[in-house]
Amino acid sequence: MSDRVAVDARIVSALRAARRVVILTGAGVSAESGVPTFRDKQTGLWETFDAAELATPHAFQRDPSLVWGWYEWRRATVLGAKPNSAHRAIATMEKLVPHFTLITQNVDDLHERAGSTGVLHLHGQLSRPYCEVCHHSYDHPEGIPDLPQGGARIEPPRCGACGAMIRPGVVWFGEHLPDVAWRSACEAAKHCDVFFCCGTSSVVQPAASLTDMAIRAGATTIQINPNATDYDGSVTVAIQGPAGIVLPRIVAETWRSA
Ligand code: APR
Repeated sequence: MSDRVAVDARIVSALRAARRVVILTGAGVSAESGVPTFRDKQTGLWETFDAAELATPHAFQRDPSLVWGWYEWRRATVLGAKPNSAHRAIATMEKLVPHFTLITQNVDDLHERAGSTGVLHLHGQLSRPYCEVCHHSYDHPEGIPDLPQGGARIEPPRCGACGAMIRPGVVWFGEHLPDVAWRSACEAAKHCDVFFCCGTSSVVQPAASLTDMAIRAGATTIQINPNATDYDGSVTVAIQGPAGIVLPRIVAETWRSA
């Protein structure tokens, strides 16, 4: 996508008039920070695994050290990454609209590190491990885990309270989304004027249904993705391009004099 192509006038006018703006982000927003998406081919120890197969309660029960090691490797990648221009543009937009809701499927903290507040994490957070039995929450030790190149199996730590395994603080396939975050996300999607779905393949439910809610509510819906998705034909505008280029341009063009 060329930097010189003008932003669709419908986006600019909808954003200027909007009271409530919602952005749903997915792994594509962190891709430009070097965090692989779920559909990217994996590398190292994980090469022969599909990410979706590692992200299940069953996988953790069957092979805890493989799954814990994979999440430690992802956590190390995230800790070594920096927010990109898409994260920063979203944090800027939050300050420019009356009511702004950021909903993310990402388990990293790159939105927060870019300055976003009140982020609704639908799929949990890498930084919040907890006991799989008594649900006591834990902090990871400070710093980036020192892992062999390509990653390694790592035995999960044990809960100090009940001795069960500590599990990653993420929502796995087949698990319920955190109730408060999900309800708040639905409320926001059903009552917004402008809704972005950005950097998501929109194949994982129920997160993808938020876009349907916004469409049904009559919001201006904008998809940003370099690749096609099933929503290309149903959103108001589908912009084919990387979030790190498209979002800053939308912010710049909408609030030129802000
Ligand atoms: N800018 C915008 N979008 C991008 C970029 C980019 N620079 N690079 C890649 N993408 C798009 C891809 O085209 C793809 O459609 O990001 C999307 C990433 O899709 P997924 O990997 O499926 O990520 P996501 O939609 O967040 O997945 C949802 O599935 O695996 C589970 O729980 C996991 O939260 C995750 C959920």
